[in-house]
Amino acid sequence: MCKIAIYPGTFDPVTNGHIDIIQRALTIFDKVIVAIAVNPGKEPLFTLEERLMMLRETVKDIPNVEVDNFDGLLVEYAKKRDACAIVRGLRAVSEFEYELQMALMNRKLDREIQTFFLMTGLRWIFTSSSIIKEAAQFGGDVEEMVPEIVNQKLKAKFAEKI
Ligand code: COA
Repeated sequence: MCKIAIYPGTFDPVTNGHIDIIQRALTIFDKVIVAIAVNPGKEPLFTLEERLMMLRETVKDIPNVEVDNFDGLLVEYAKKRDACAIVRGLRAVSEFEYELQMALMNRKLDREIQTFFLMTGLRWIFTSSSIIKEAAQFGGDVEEMVPEIVNQKLKAKFAEKI
């Protein structure tokens, strides 16, 4: 029986859409490990420590969720943590190609670990960390799209950059 799933991502920063996926994953798995990974194609706005802090603060009242980070291959980390599944959220068709490529590469690297795609709630279908950062940078109100701690940190981050 598959009990533990890894939900990997950059989480720069965590959004309500990510939380929606975590909640959905918890209806299937006993435990979800939210793991901040290095995506070599991205240059994060928040440091790893800031992203870990925001995630931990956001999920602190959700049982059976752990926040962690890792270097290296996702499938190796999953194995080390006794996880049998990788969870990814899907919002738009445009994401599918990239997600399929990653899922197939992960399967090639380790056939025992399955990728699960969960559909993001309709409310969050248009959000992404980048679009939220862009709106916040120019003073846009993103309060309804991110956890309170993230809203505060975004304001502080962009105030310090002015
Ligand atoms: N709601 C809102 N936004 C969502 C979302 C949801 N439910 N699900 C994803 N997103 C957004 C994210 O905010 C992010 O937005 P951004 O691009 O504007 O920052 C985007 O969708 C996807 O990012 P994320 O989910 O953070 O994934 P990623 O593509 O940055 O992460 C890794 C990819 C880290 C999982 C992948 O690079 C990895 O596994 N790295 C480890 C190394 C490895 O094993 N590589 C081989 C794998 S093929």
